[in-house]
Amino acid sequence: MSDANKAPIGIFDSGIGGLTVVKAVMEQLPNENIIYYGDTARVPYGIKSIETVREYALQITEFLLSQQVKCILIACNTVSAAANEEVRAFCGNVPVLDVVAAGAEAALSVEAKNESIGVIGTLATVNSQTYETAIHATAPGKRIFSKACPMLVPLAEEGWTDNEISRLVIEEYLGDFREKNLDALILGCTHYPLFTPLIERYLKKSGTKVIDSALSIAARTRAMLAEHNMINESGEKGEFTCFVSDKPQRFQNLAERFLGKKLHRIEISPLV
Ligand code: DGL
Repeated sequence: MSDANKAPIGIFDSGIGGLTVVKAVMEQLPNENIIYYGDTARVPYGIKSIETVREYALQITEFLLSQQVKCILIACNTVSAAANEEVRAFCGNVPVLDVVAAGAEAALSVEAKNESIGVIGTLATVNSQTYETAIHATAPGKRIFSKACPMLVPLAEEGWTDNEISRLVIEEYLGDFREKNLDALILGCTHYPLFTPLIERYLKKSGTKVIDSALSIAARTRAMLAEHNMINESGEKGEFTCFVSDKPQRFQNLAERFLGKKLHRIEISPLV
């Protein structure tokens, strides 16, 4: 194994939600060092213009490359939708994976009973039709039903992921999806995996498989690193470094909830 294998994996998101991807990567690749960047000063991206999201995404990419990462995971659906090509071009030979491609692939691997897939995400992600493009590239006959669920982001930030209010919001957003007997529902926003138990319960009778793209991108990362002989096989537990552009007071608590574990150090590194 070369020293390059010990280089960290760079993961970024508009804010805290990408920690759901970090958690999945930690579980599937426990020896990898990880550097995370959350743009907490400028979140949310989901309601911003494509041009603005692109500019922010390239600034973060530049920062991660300066940390000598061996690959980059775009852990934000909105960035994947708005700036995928730009980030890849900027990275040159450094491999880039994104949550949209991973989520689309996972949804297509579900047994197709009704040839239909649901997608929920931010306004920017849903309006971009990025999941439609990714899915139709391999399965043009699939029917896709998408819906923006903007209320879920603040609910997740508040920690209201499985209470009476979140239940009512899920019912309001997914009411018509329940009748469609979708084969799969892609959680196309980094915050939504926190609602997985609630959504699974709500869609239970319709037999819809709920797709968490955090799990899929982690599996893809493992496969990509193995293919390029880039896995860190040092046997040491991977280190996690968390950078943010601003540290709101409740960030630590929230981050620990997303990650499901204690965070000892969070560094503030503004981009502008
Ligand atoms: N991280 C964003 C996403 O996955 C959700 C939060 C935001 O709007 O910035 O689309």
